[in-house]
Amino acid sequence: MIKSVCFLFVLFSSVNAWKGAVECVKTSTCSCRKDNGETIDLSALSTNNGTPKFQNVIDIHNKDNYSLSVCNIFSQGNCSNVAICQIRPMFPTDLYFDVGDLNTATFMEDERGQITINYIAGNRRSFVNLTCNYDIEAQLLAVGEQPAGSSMYHFELISKYACPITPLDPSSPSKNVIYIGVGAGVGALLLVVAILVYRKRIFSKCRKSDTYTSLT
Ligand SMILES: *[C@@H]1O[C@H](CO)[C@@H](O)[C@H](O)[C@H]1NC(C)=O
Ligand SMILES: *[C@@H]1O[C@H](CO)[C@@H](O)[C@H](O)[C@H]1NC(C)=O
Ligand SMILES: *[C@@H]1O[C@H](CO)[C@@H](O)[C@H](O)[C@H]1NC(C)=O
Repeated sequence: MIKSVCFLFVLFSSVNAWKGAVECVKTSTCSCRKDNGETIDLSALSTNNGTPKFQNVIDIHNKDNYSLSVCNIFSQGNCSNVAICQIRPMFPTDLYFDVGDLNTATFMEDERGQITINYIAGNRRSFVNLTCNYDIEAQLLAVGEQPAGSSMYHFELISKYACPITPLDPSSPSKNVIYIGVGAGVGALLLVVAILVYRKRIFSKCRKSDTYTSLT
């Protein structure tokens, strides 16, 4: 018995690792619902006049400027109808690059609960980390393109609107749990729950048993 439990425990540990990022299900351009029912709603950061919420934020390397809006498109220079625009100072005219189309936004949540909005524009990809801070209205940190030449752009949006909102009805079913690459039966799920509940106890038993070492 203990051997099979150990086997399932080890199996589940690796399943947990495979799970990786889960999607925070998009409910609008700038809001999503987590699998625990909590929501993130950035709609207070909307601008409705086609201008970006954040304009000309200089990146931490003092190289390029970025403008960004998470809820609505904007146009600036040669960036038209974008969510994120890179402005590179250049003679005789600055260069503008679309580095994020609003409709490509997907909300991902990693194992540590970090929510990141991913955007695509051609071969460019942008990642906007959301950081909850109840004391800050909204602040954008632009790390910019990293590594240089990778066409990957990194940002951190720090805001009280990035904080999760607990649903009013805690009994509402948590939907849309997406386990990447894993399908589990109800029985297995129950076992997994039991294993989670007793994981410490099982883990210490497993460490003592040779089953564990033979499985790792
Ligand atoms: C970058 O932004 C700063 C203000 O944040 C501005 O003074 C500067 O002109 C901008 N550079 C370009 C190339 O737009
Ligand atoms: C910006 O747009 C203008 C007009 O469409 C075009 O002539 C120019 O080449 C563009 N510049 C860049 C840097 O893309
Ligand atoms: C965004 O979050 C990821 C995962 O936690 C981290 O590796 C990355 O450095 C963060 N980027 C920024 C700009 O904070």
